[in-house]
Amino acid sequence: MPSQVLVLNGPNLNLLGTREPEIYGHETLSDIAALCEQAAASLGIAVDFRQSNSEAELVNWIQEARTSRAGIIINAGALTHTSVALLDALNASGLPVIEVHLSNIFRREEFRRHSYISLAARGVICGLGPQGYELALAAIARLIAKPRKRTASTQKATNKKTTNKKTTNKKTPAKGKRTS
Ligand code: DQA
Repeated sequence: MPSQVLVLNGPNLNLLGTREPEIYGHETLSDIAALCEQAAASLGIAVDFRQSNSEAELVNWIQEARTSRAGIIINAGALTHTSVALLDALNASGLPVIEVHLSNIFRREEFRRHSYISLAARGVICGLGPQGYELALAAIARLIAKPRKRTASTQKATNKKTTNKKTTNKKTPAKGKRTS
């Protein structure tokens, strides 16, 4: 069975297509679900695409995903900016998380610039409309295929050590001897 990724959508995203189309576009949530199905199939993974207006329901779905899903893509809607409960659930899941927003939250009101979800996310994609979901699926497919064993900083430290070793292994000229 292919790895299954949970794609979660928060409050008001069920209204896509008619909700502020100048910000969120004309595609409906069903259009985005179809796009995700298609993208997932070409990546060899499966998606479980869901939407809820209820924070509690989203928390329950994340908790269930701990044992049954390989990763989570989440557009938490307005809960992005308010929900410590979603952050805690995502952290507790131990799964790779990618955060997605249709709009560029950094070009909008000040209050949208802070995301609790980002603290649990391996990556954030915003401002690219429905394409953001496709990109998130491609990213999570790679994360699932190659779970990260080291953080970027531990990898850097390892590289540094190897370089130092190489340097110290070089023969140091005897004192007083000219090398050139
Ligand atoms: C959103 C951005 C949020 O600030 C907003 O509350 C949403 C949608 C987006 O996809 O751009 O509901 O997450």
